[in-house]
Amino acid sequence: VNGQIEIPVVVHVIYRTNAENISDAQVQSQIDVLNEDFNLQNSDASLIPSVFSGVAANVGLNFKLDAITRTYSSKRSWRPNDDMKKASKGGVDPWDPSQYLNMWVVNSIKSGRSTILGYAQFPGGPAATDGVVIGYNFFGRVGTLSAPYDLGRTTTHEVGHWLNLRHIWGDGGCGVDDFVADTPISDGPNYGCPSFPTVRCSSTDMTMNYMDYVNDGCMYMFSNGQKDRMLSLFAPGGFREGM
Ligand code: ARG
Ligand code: ZN
Ligand code: CA
Repeated sequence: VNGQIEIPVVVHVIYRTNAENISDAQVQSQIDVLNEDFNLQNSDASLIPSVFSGVAANVGLNFKLDAITRTYSSKRSWRPNDDMKKASKGGVDPWDPSQYLNMWVVNSIKSGRSTILGYAQFPGGPAATDGVVIGYNFFGRVGTLSAPYDLGRTTTHEVGHWLNLRHIWGDGGCGVDDFVADTPISDGPNYGCPSFPTVRCSSTDMTMNYMDYVNDGCMYMFSNGQKDRMLSLFAPGGFREGM
């Protein structure tokens, strides 16, 4: 697949309070972040260290906001069990996932006692739950946001998963890969804003990759290998062909 691929997006805002019913401007700011990050137009790309600048990818995906749906729910939090994707559970059913990237923006996602920023379904899962879920205060870069996750990178990360990317440490030790050759092997997530170089498993981690766990302001690239893995989904026979 060459050139620009367009991805129609529908954002389902599910709110209890007025603050959680985020503005159109906050939603649009998230679409803007995605269009920058997936086209290497993010201003912080200038921070990519020279050892990695040769593999920094212009993925070439265009996200087009087609609709925002707004739904009231009395729920104070949700679990990562896909209830928000089901009208029968007080959520909102997805628009045809073969034609749209569905994003659910909810007030809070609780996994055990902790709040998570967002989660995604990998390609190959059930159509009824395809898409990404993000906490409203981590969505976009203008409006009501919680630092250091206030630059829209949670959604960039989750859309990476939705396009089949793994965490760069492969969710395992030094012997486990993320199935991408140009992201160096690591053995766990990096947090905060790591200093460069951060060496683990005898190689320098690509801590500034969107698929690590660093702060929004400290992640600013996909790699060419990740680009190939994502774009293969849109090739003939790929899971997201015909989108
Ligand atoms: N913990 C989430 C996940 O694994 C998202 C992490 C996003 N990180 C960030 N800096 N926004 O899918
Ligand atoms: Zn993740
Ligand atoms: Ca790798």
